[in-house]
Order: sequence, then C-alpha cells, then structure tokens
Amino acid sequence: MQEKIFTLYSAKETETLAYSIGQKLQGGECIELVSDLGGGKTTFTRGLVRGIGSLDNVSSPTFTIGKQYKSGVITCYHYDFYRLQDPGLLAEELAEALEDDKGVIVVEWAESVAHVLPDDRIIIMFERMADNSESRICTIKYSEQYAETIESISL
Ligand SMILES: Nc1ncnc2c1ncn2[C@@H]1O[C@H](COP(=O)(O)OP(=O)(O)OP(=O)(O)O)[C@@H](O)[C@H]1O
Ligand SMILES: [Mg+2]
Repeated sequence: MQEKIFTLYSAKETETLAYSIGQKLQGGECIELVSDLGGGKTTFTRGLVRGIGSLDNVSSPTFTIGKQYKSGVITCYHYDFYRLQDPGLLAEELAEALEDDKGVIVVEWAESVAHVLPDDRIIIMFERMADNSESRICTIKYSEQYAETIESISL
C-alpha cells in the first residue's frame, strides 16, 4: 500500500478533494472511509458523488444503511454500517454491488463487512487535529492499481 496525505482545513476542502477523486472514477472502484464520529466521511461522499457527476442529494445512510446515486452509466453505492454487528443479507448486497463494473462503492464503518471488501481498495482516513479546529488530516492508502488516480490528485 502507498500513502498520500492532505490537510483539509474545512468541510469545503474535504468536498473539493473528494470531487477531484470522483472525477477520475470510472466504475469498479471500492473506497473505505475511516474516521471517528463526525470525521467527515459523509461530507467526503457528497463531494465524490458530485465529482462523478450526480446531482443527487447525499445524506447519511445510517438508518437505511445503503443508498445509490446515479450519474450516466455510473452508480455510486454508499453504505454506512455504523453499529451493525451482523450485516446479514446486507453483506451479500454489498458483495453484489462490488460485482458492478460501473459501480463505485463507498463504505463508512466497514468493520462488520471487512471480509467482503476487496484487498485492492482505496482506504481514506480522516483525523481531527488536536487544536479543535475544523481541520482534518486525510490519509489516502492505495494499492498499485489506483496509483495513477490518486497520485494525480492535488488540492
Ligand atoms: N475538514 C472537514 N471535513 C469534513 N467535515 C468537516 C470538516 N470540518 C468540519 N466538518 C463538519 O463535520 C461534520 C462531518 O460530518 P459527516 O457527517 O461528514 O461525518 P461522518 O464521518 O460521516 O460522521 P458519522 O461518523 O456520523 O457517519 C459536518 O457537519 C461538517 O460540516
Ligand atoms: Mg457519515
């Protein structure tokens, strides 16, 4: 795994970074978002979905667990498994979405479905800075397959 680190000074910057990543996606990608509560995962997803070209309203799927956003031929599947001990059938639904070669899969709180996610995925982590500001340290971990996509990103 390789790593790229960004400092995001506001929610807007988180969306901007996500937007530029979204613009490069073509389907078949899997992104795992990792942070504490309120770290910015759904905010990131909003930017990503706009970057893919969808104007759909992006909100936290905490109660519905999964949502889909469409843009042309691409479908973004957005999951949030917060506090879900046993994903049951949802793990199968996720596995099916991962088979969609025009699908972009985004997962928040993936612990309970980690066994379903491909090793070859993009892992994006958000950490708050100690100064209590809006800033986040964003670490992107990616395998060789995604090197070109991630390395061309700038803020
Ligand atoms: N740099 C930042 N990046 C992202 N969000 C930020 C940032 N600074 C402040 N925020 C705010 O923090 C909140 C992040 O909420 P968001 O729902 O995106 O987090 P989350 O990680 O999805 O939370 P949850 O763990 O509940 O799913 C939003 O209100 C957003 O405006
Ligand atoms: Mg969220």
